[in-house]
Amino acid sequence: MSGKNGSIKLVAGNSNPILAREIADWLKLPLTKASVRRFADMEIFVEIQENVRGSDVFIIQSTSFPTNDHLMELLIITDALRRASARRITAVIPYFGYARQDRKAGPRTPISAKLVANLITHAGADRVMTLDLHAGQIQGFFDIPTDNLYASPVMVRDIKEKFDLSNLMVVSPDVGGVVRARGLAKRINAPLAIIDKRRERAGESEVMNVIGDVAGYTCILIDDIVDSGGTLVNAADALLANGAKDVYAYITHGVLSGGAAARISGSKLKELVITDSIQPTEAVITSHNIRTLSIAALIGDAIGRTAAEESVSSLFD
Ligand code: R5P
Repeated sequence: MSGKNGSIKLVAGNSNPILAREIADWLKLPLTKASVRRFADMEIFVEIQENVRGSDVFIIQSTSFPTNDHLMELLIITDALRRASARRITAVIPYFGYARQDRKAGPRTPISAKLVANLITHAGADRVMTLDLHAGQIQGFFDIPTDNLYASPVMVRDIKEKFDLSNLMVVSPDVGGVVRARGLAKRINAPLAIIDKRRERAGESEVMNVIGDVAGYTCILIDDIVDSGGTLVNAADALLANGAKDVYAYITHGVLSGGAAARISGSKLKELVITDSIQPTEAVITSHNIRTLSIAALIGDAIGRTAAEESVSSLFD
């Protein structure tokens, strides 16, 4: 298969080999033979084992846990490809780690998302493709073309299949996520509620005010990241206390650190639906109330269109 910028090559890092394989299958392309391994002291060593000279190369690598190792792999793979004369290198980063550090949160703190953008650019990437960035403005941290894809079409399809849309309420678990939740609510023609988290005084427990009448509704919480699970579990409790019939969550990136999967399993959430932007752990796979949707076709389509110099945004019309 050849795009307008040379033959298309897909290179997988170690963060999400299952997703990389599914994307390759969707595009009916082989994964490029490459070895990403460690020296005894854990230094990363990369060897691209086939010719990529003049190729349009897509590296598939989420910078998920262990974040620093996966980021370093991405940088070193990019360097190897650049030195091997790839014509164009696109870093496909389904989950962009460090995105939550997108501003100076206090005096003398870093903007790590910008630092990571600089590292990826300086390593030699020509383009970036990512999914549901924590903050859309992070695209501006790159001075190279950056496509931010949305998982919403995949989620909307699933919601339409599973639910009676007439009794659904979309809920943003915090004020910061309202734009994202409103976008999805519009697509399924559902009303929107918002949870306003507030800690009146330091040391006092957080108060969850539900803005909107959720009584009798099946609520769907929408967010970009579930990490510890605390936000979701507390939001589900607040919605049920306000009379919601039941609570589900659709979250793009299942970071699910530490005991998060167990926390979700023990919660009042009926179901948490995530995507495979981060490879699910065994705890996630075996959890009775966590389900994963594949984004392989979405990313595969976006790669195909990028290679053919076609519109990517029209995937979301
Ligand atoms: C915050 O701004 C994000 O959108 C998520 O709400 C947050 O990262 C979730 O974290 P946790 O699951 O640890 O509460």
